[in-house]
Amino acid sequence: MEFKQVIETRRSIRAFTDRDVSDEQVLQLLEWAHAAPSGGNLRPWEYIVVRSQAQKEAIAAATFCGNDDRAPATQKWLAAAPVVVVAVGLPAKIEARYGKTCIPAQALLYQDCGAMIENFLLGAVALGLGSCYIAGFREKELSQTLGLPEEVIPVAILPLGHPAQPGVERPRSPVGSILHHETY
Ligand SMILES: Cc1cc2nc3c(=O)[nH]c(=O)nc-3n(C[C@H](O)[C@H](O)[C@H](O)COP(=O)(O)O)c2cc1C
Repeated sequence: MEFKQVIETRRSIRAFTDRDVSDEQVLQLLEWAHAAPSGGNLRPWEYIVVRSQAQKEAIAAATFCGNDDRAPATQKWLAAAPVVVVAVGLPAKIEARYGKTCIPAQALLYQDCGAMIENFLLGAVALGLGSCYIAGFREKELSQTLGLPEEVIPVAILPLGHPAQPGVERPRSPVGSILHHETY
């Protein structure tokens, strides 16, 4: 698939068919994600690949809808994906290089992980798959579900599968309306 087509057809996919995703496809996506640029080349991330239905449902139970983390509704649709990848971050890697004060480790961590996750999302399109960046989760609860050590934090849940239907095109403001030249 052409790069232009990958960029222009990527959508958040929230419904999947029953068709499986192979381990090779998952590994390919993680290779592409791991190839992303990263401050100081630290790559402060790791991945957890989940296929068990019970674990996918436990992950979904740690999510919420909207921006209220106490909202009772969860994003249970994600448990229907054949594979769920959870990207986790290791701020200690950043602190070990840059210290605790100079650059806020968490800020750099999320910038790094954003670049890495975009590679994953675009790679999914290139493989004919769909995914969605999910950050609406209760961090402590998800960490417990995944058995994360204290120094590892969950960054994104990435359900992965074959889209059940094409994603909906969300509106964007024209680039011209957010473009400045020389100064703001
Ligand atoms: C940091 C971040 C967090 C997001 N969290 C969620 C989420 O918790 N649940 C969800 O369904 N979509 C989530 N999204 C997806 C956005 O809703 C989606 O990207 C946006 O509506 C634009 O649609 P598109 O991805 O189809 O272009 C998230 C996206 C980003 C970048």
